[in-house]
Amino acid sequence: FASGKGKAPVRVAITGASGQIGYQLLFRIASGDMLGKDQPIILQCLELPGAMNSLKGVAMELDDCAFPLLKGIVQSDKPEEAFAGADYALLVGARPRSKGMERGDLLKANAEIFSVQGKALDKSANRDTLRVLVVGNPANTNALIAARNAPNIDPKRFSAMTRLDHNRGLAQLADKTGSAVTDIEKFCIWGNHSATQYPDINFGTVKGKSLVNTINDQKWVKDNFIPTVQQRGAAIIAARGLSSAASAASAAIDHMRDWTYGTNGQWTSMAIYSEGEYGADKGLYFSFPVIVDNKGKYEIVKGLKLDQFSQERFDATRKELLSEMDGVKELLP
Ligand code: NAD
Ligand code: LMR
Repeated sequence: FASGKGKAPVRVAITGASGQIGYQLLFRIASGDMLGKDQPIILQCLELPGAMNSLKGVAMELDDCAFPLLKGIVQSDKPEEAFAGADYALLVGARPRSKGMERGDLLKANAEIFSVQGKALDKSANRDTLRVLVVGNPANTNALIAARNAPNIDPKRFSAMTRLDHNRGLAQLADKTGSAVTDIEKFCIWGNHSATQYPDINFGTVKGKSLVNTINDQKWVKDNFIPTVQQRGAAIIAARGLSSAASAASAAIDHMRDWTYGTNGQWTSMAIYSEGEYGADKGLYFSFPVIVDNKGKYEIVKGLKLDQFSQERFDATRKELLSEMDGVKELLP
């Protein structure tokens, strides 16, 4: 039973709050799915001026849920106001791609938003506690833009979402091996949240046994598994006519919960600030296998050896991120 009696509320800012993902996200956060059934929450919603009326309707529905943990709802079209004192910021608001559009087309359209919001976070968020998750695409490069425009915030407090890709991979692997998603360990996504990402099963296990040996079908991995995970976003758009929303919100909740409370020794995937690990250029927001401790500190899994096949895919996604960075360089102070 959620109550949260006695604990101080934390401030969770969400941009694009009345969009598809926002509508899935707010109710789950307010019900305690993200930070637990004993953590009171204040939701701080940012929307465009033209969407304030729709946001008002969402806030009315939140009221109507009578969530015990929900201690306040801020509705704003001003980034600094929405981010004031924020402990968490989920940057979702951006234009999604539609049928046939490649993610690169979105780069310029969305980059400006993250420059403005980085500056606003720098001014008004809680720098000592802040965790930022960028969901709006192209997520890795938007995280880079936001972080670079927030010079007073540790760049390690910014991240971009590849947890949806990670979860998609787990589901495919569980299906292929006839096991549960929780039986799969040490799977990871390298690189960009895009069609160049590399879902890597080489270190993975299923019920403690090697995934590669259990599947024993390199052709399936190469021609089926990897492209399915890489293209899943486009496949959802083709099927639904809209980009993924409930699954994206669910992954965002997984990401923030694990970043706060830890992964219990398990691997997950997060796109985080690269110090040059595994040859990912320093400064990029790159998805790595990470383990989060129970104090909420993440560490990249070290000492993995990438074979030639993996290295080629790693380099492809790394190069794409470098070219995305080059495409927005005027927005990178
Ligand atoms: P949507 O169009 O339904 O909602 C976006 C909302 O953001 C709208 O309500 C819009 O008014 C608002 N918005 C736009 N610019 C804003 C700004 N500057 N400040 C505040 N709000 C703003 O889109 P959606 O389906 O919710 O998707 C949102 C983003 O998430 C898209 O970029 C999409 O591609 C991305 N996405 C990422 C992943 C991932 O795994 N990283 C998965 C799914 C979707
Ligand atoms: C997804 O992975 O579902 C989103 O990033 C949407 C998209 O454009 O692929």
